[in-house]
Amino acid sequence: MNVLVLGSGGREHTIAWKVSKSKALDKLFVAPGNAGTERVASNVDMNIQDFQQVKNFVLSQNINLVIVGPEQPLVDGIVDYFINDGDLHDVKILGPSKKAALLEGSKEYAKYFMKKYNIPTAASASFNKNEFEKGRAFLKTLKPPYVIKADGLAAGKGVVISETYDEAEAALKEMLIDSKFGEASEIVVIEEFLDGIECSVFALTNGRDYQILPVAKDYKRIGERDTGLNTGGMGCVSPVNFADQEFMGKVENRIVKPTIEAIYKEKLNYTGFLFFGLMNVAGDPYVVEYNVRLGDPEAQVVLPRIHNDFLQLCYNAASKKDLTERISINPDYALAVIAASGGYPQKYEKGKHIKGLQDIEDVLVFHAGTKMQNNEVITNGGRVLALTGMGKSIRQAGKKAYDAMDKVIFDKKYYRIDIGKDITD
Ligand code: AMP
Ligand code: GLY
Repeated sequence: MNVLVLGSGGREHTIAWKVSKSKALDKLFVAPGNAGTERVASNVDMNIQDFQQVKNFVLSQNINLVIVGPEQPLVDGIVDYFINDGDLHDVKILGPSKKAALLEGSKEYAKYFMKKYNIPTAASASFNKNEFEKGRAFLKTLKPPYVIKADGLAAGKGVVISETYDEAEAALKEMLIDSKFGEASEIVVIEEFLDGIECSVFALTNGRDYQILPVAKDYKRIGERDTGLNTGGMGCVSPVNFADQEFMGKVENRIVKPTIEAIYKEKLNYTGFLFFGLMNVAGDPYVVEYNVRLGDPEAQVVLPRIHNDFLQLCYNAASKKDLTERISINPDYALAVIAASGGYPQKYEKGKHIKGLQDIEDVLVFHAGTKMQNNEVITNGGRVLALTGMGKSIRQAGKKAYDAMDKVIFDKKYYRIDIGKDITD
């Protein structure tokens, strides 16, 4: 089978690495990829938002399966483009349709969907550009902390959680009146604050059946002890003890199963990964958000723990074959630490030489913002590498990841020193 993975981050390197192990694989391409994907696949210089360009490449290389990594092409309808194009009818694409991708692309839609199907989530109300006064009045009825969300995709910056009313009102005004995120904040969702501990649960689905993948916890803030600005994720651990069997049973019965049933009922045409961002509130799960793809850096700890032939799983889901094969999970812990460019998630520099990678042993090195220049690996983004250690305990997995981190050298390297330190085995 010939496979094309779309994307260029750590998640896509992890997907490509896992696919590259399959006996069913012939040729593997990643577009546009990074310095890491080049080691397991051929990189293709391509704008993945240009679907015609993707189509031409797929036909020229006899690609059988396209795996879409990031949300933007999904929200923009790449799956519908493939399904509706007669030239591509033999090609499978793993990902949800444009309408289904609204589960991530529109928070208002996700809320409507969850309310309609009684899926536990924070109480909320949404307001459009002409309803600022109504939104303000609603905000006044709530207690802090206040949660204000731009409806559309806003590169992870569209959620404001504030302790004071004034700040919340200012955020509401910036989004609705000052169009802070353009179209993405023409509608704003205001919701109840959920007090608990977060985790990420993933299902692979063919639109009808599903299999649940290993659970993970992401460390979203830039600073130690979860302080400072939100990032794409600075580290990750899988599994986590607060998501025990009882909790995961509730997650499946109250959230995963009803969500997949609702997707089927609503004829949303969904294949691929569904990411449940959950809050564990005193032992009960609530959906904070849906994402229509794998997480990053969750993929870097989830996929290494899966024994199955990942390509076969992806192909079966994309082909809408029965998903009866159980996911076989390695019981070991996986812990990933992100090496980032100093300054991220705000301004940072690129083009720094990365040294020491060849000295790393017994740890998985997944590239994110890297590229090759004159046969050397240089930094090319905010999150640069994910180092995933595996071990019988979180401590052991963490020790491996941090020992490897000491060997990676680049100017202004930044990483959090506390990944996995807050949880026990
Ligand atoms: P989202 O983009 O919806 O995942 O929100 C970003 C982050 O804000 C989440 O990962 C949570 O940490 C936090 N968050 C979002 N909604 C809530 C909520 N209702 N209660 C508490 N924290 C929230
Ligand atoms: N790590 C969170 C995300 O991928 O959105």
